[in-house]
Amino acid sequence: MKLAFIGIGQVGAALAGNLAALGHSVTIAARDPSSKTVTEALAKYPALAVAATEDAIAAAEVIFLATPFAAVSAALANGDAFAGKVLVDCTNPVGPGLTHGLDSKRSGSEAVQSLVPQARVVKAFTIYGFENFEDSAYPGYGDLKPAMLIAGDDAEAKQVVATLCQDLGWEPVDTGPLSMSLHLEHMTLLWIKMARVQGGGAGFVWARLQR
Ligand SMILES: NC(=O)c1ccc[n+]([C@@H]2O[C@H](COP(=O)([O-])OP(=O)(O)OC[C@H]3O[C@@H](n4cnc5c(N)ncnc54)[C@H](OP(=O)(O)O)[C@@H]3O)[C@@H](O)[C@H]2O)c1
Repeated sequence: MKLAFIGIGQVGAALAGNLAALGHSVTIAARDPSSKTVTEALAKYPALAVAATEDAIAAAEVIFLATPFAAVSAALANGDAFAGKVLVDCTNPVGPGLTHGLDSKRSGSEAVQSLVPQARVVKAFTIYGFENFEDSAYPGYGDLKPAMLIAGDDAEAKQVVATLCQDLGWEPVDTGPLSMSLHLEHMTLLWIKMARVQGGGAGFVWARLQR
């Protein structure tokens, strides 16, 4: 697929690099092609391409949003360009003291959707640290795959993202409409507190047992 990344830092580079290695055509939508994160991502993952933001977005079928949450309105300023596109929201609104950045009143993904009403927003790749997007392998559990919880209002867009999750080694778990993102954002806070504050380390994820 033709993929574009807005934001190519810890999360963006890990996902972009692995998706390019799987054979996808991955372009960094760069506001500044000489920025540190763009330069470092290209050095680490030479299969990535780079293009001006509007060209990369126009060409892409799926766009990953991986900027700080505070930057989303600037990053999505040209809203019309996203009409009909699948937009994977990888951002998390995090407030002071590891609280929900929108006071748990509304999810960040719904705020993103309101900036680009014609895009098909799917929240994914948010509930763990970037280390798990670099390497999703948890050997020793047989066929059990680590779970990637996703949410979105557009079933077809969710299926596209679910397939990308599978390609990257995850079991996609559809949690329902985009409003469920609020709960995913709280899962993120849980993971961050366990992994980074309490010292549990980044090497754990959740899996789903189903009967
Ligand atoms: N870090 C994690 O473990 C983790 C895990 C899950 C989700 N998240 C979420 O994922 C998002 C990205 O986190 P990160 O750790 O990857 O951040 P990061 O390493 O700081 O990278 C942020 C990227 O966003 C770009 N950017 C900033 N403002 C922009 C704008 N206005 N327009 C376009 N691009 C812009 C930066 O470009 P420049 O280099 O040009 O500044 C950089 O490439 C955040 O919302 C975070 O909450 C993070």
